[in-house]
Amino acid sequence: MKRVGIIGIGTYVPDQIVTNIDLESKIDTNDEWIRTRTGIEERRIAGEEMDTSHMAILAAKRALENASLQAEDIDMILVATATPDHPFPSVACMVQEALGVMNIPAMDVSAACSGFIYAMATAKPFIETDTYKNVLVIGSEKFTKTLDWEDRTTCVLFGDGAGAVILSEVSSDRGILSVDLGADGSGADYLYIDSETGKIKMNGREVYKFAVRQMPESSLHVVDKAGLKKEDVDFLIPHQANIRIIDAARERLGLDKEKVSTTVTKHGNTSAASIPLALFSEIENGLIHEGDVIVMVGFGGGLTWGSICLKWGK
Ligand code: COA
Repeated sequence: MKRVGIIGIGTYVPDQIVTNIDLESKIDTNDEWIRTRTGIEERRIAGEEMDTSHMAILAAKRALENASLQAEDIDMILVATATPDHPFPSVACMVQEALGVMNIPAMDVSAACSGFIYAMATAKPFIETDTYKNVLVIGSEKFTKTLDWEDRTTCVLFGDGAGAVILSEVSSDRGILSVDLGADGSGADYLYIDSETGKIKMNGREVYKFAVRQMPESSLHVVDKAGLKKEDVDFLIPHQANIRIIDAARERLGLDKEKVSTTVTKHGNTSAASIPLALFSEIENGLIHEGDVIVMVGFGGGLTWGSICLKWGK
């Protein structure tokens, strides 16, 4: 069986930065509350003209460039998003059109903030079995369009952005070692977008309890499935929702702070885009090295969770 890994990555975040202090003048909140409860300091907000597909296309072009591939080299497009431009056509079809690659399969994957992990897991067997060579996997969200700016318990948490990777065959000692996916629909009411208002509704306490339990569980499980021990993990890329949830996972894995991405401070929660955005940041920071064992782990609406353990490099 072929080994599947990341051969290129690209991201896009909108230029507009909104700090906690900026929010203080808009709603009844304060910088101290947001920072101590969530770790978030600022988030990016996309303008009217920029929807989920536009950010996805920009990230995809950068990922192609990073992989030294042309658009026509792509054999399949998967977009993880909870905030598509339309119920259909999918964002993936809009990306396909913009890239000018016709007749290849393109679809969106709906697993909320776990979506990027689900999409990577969906792509993997197509490459392993030689059905497709290069799969473009994107997480893109304009989450701010779902925010109710009257609801301070949710509107301070989210931001917009996109991240894309190209998955392809890599050498036999690199790439994805194991995958762990799961869902518990009994928690559907804890986090959802209301179909009448289009706005997000959340039971923060219940989501918090679920996340501090499930994110470490899934991380440990995927490491075990890879035949490794938690001591073998070099870097953790968790879904960026809340620094306290990230700390819980970090502690269960016994990792030092420097070995865990916390880009939630500058991006807020960008849902399906958060993991590729965090991964890209840590690559830019020079913290991801050839041969490192990396665990990427997400959780979110559904409720869903998912993790991937991979050995970095081609
Ligand atoms: N600014 C100021 N005060 C706020 C506030 C805000 N933005 N939002 C809520 N508060 C207030 C509440 O009204 C409450 O006041 P009260 O005690 O007078 O009623 C107080 O802060 C405490 O609220 P509470 O909900 O108990 O806070 P918390 O410690 O549970 O933290 C979350 C709230 C949302 C940060 C936390 O529950 C959380 O992170 N949950 C998970 C959310 C998540 O990750 N969602 C995405 C999943 S992908």
